[in-house]
Amino acid sequence: MVEQDFLIVRKTLSPFKNAGKGNYLALVLADKTGQIQARMWENADTFHEKATENKVYWIKGRVEKYNNFMQIKVDDLAPLDDAQFDAATYLAASTRPLPEMRAELRAVLEKVGHPGLREFFLEWLLDSDFAASYSYAPAAKQIHHAYVAGLIEHSLEVAKFALSVQELYPEADRDILIIASLLHDIGKVAEYVCGLGIDITDQGRLIGHTVIGYNMLQQRAAGDARVPDDKLTHLGHIMLSHHGELMYGAPVMPATLEAVIVHHADLTSGRVRQFTRALNEFAPEENWLYEKNLGRMIYRGYVGAEPGEAE
Ligand SMILES: [Fe+2]
Ligand SMILES: [Fe+2]
Repeated sequence: MVEQDFLIVRKTLSPFKNAGKGNYLALVLADKTGQIQARMWENADTFHEKATENKVYWIKGRVEKYNNFMQIKVDDLAPLDDAQFDAATYLAASTRPLPEMRAELRAVLEKVGHPGLREFFLEWLLDSDFAASYSYAPAAKQIHHAYVAGLIEHSLEVAKFALSVQELYPEADRDILIIASLLHDIGKVAEYVCGLGIDITDQGRLIGHTVIGYNMLQQRAAGDARVPDDKLTHLGHIMLSHHGELMYGAPVMPATLEAVIVHHADLTSGRVRQFTRALNEFAPEENWLYEKNLGRMIYRGYVGAEPGEAE
């Protein structure tokens, strides 16, 4: 039995396969621990009209397993007025604990060999006013790492991918790879705003995170003797080129070995996460899902089965 407050992330009215049975309501519910699929099999049309996305509801129902996935069969729901809840309770956050990610951030920055760069970026990313925003920001509105602390999680992942490439290509500058991986998306702290859900700011739409981030770096580091001019230019180049192609919003294309490594590390982290997120959002009754950001159907049939239970 479930009686709990949830944020309604998405609602979709869908017809039963047997058209004569009318519609059912498919819901994606969230609290800060994550999202869960829910279904209302009865009175779907009425509840579809009653329910509003991005609002919090008291939900009464039952947890059931369908095709190896947990979902809630909802019997009743009622809206809560805004005064009755704390928005932060319903924001999805990274499943990785923040202290663990901040410790990893410190450890990876400690690997920077250049003493000035190491000190400057340890201070900026871990011990400044900016550090709190860097640890809180999401990495996207909905495509990948779209939750609180998604930016730091994604940035650490990009650094790991980039460093594993550097093991194969030791001529690549490790200091630059580490710092650029951690910095490439910092403009997202100003590109997104977290309310009930994540939204794009005016600055985000008008300027975009590549240029916002580039400006943040210049403002913070220009004239600081710990960051040599040539390193600042190289880091700026990687921030501006990390989307890889002009058509994807990069003002310049990657022109250095480190820039091309960071671009591909970024792409890998984002793309793999897009897949894992989509796999979690499958309706339990379906094995194929159209992922609109990827522009293709993806298949869920090989995951979710428990050992010995595979069909
Ligand atoms: Fe980016
Ligand atoms: Fe990124």
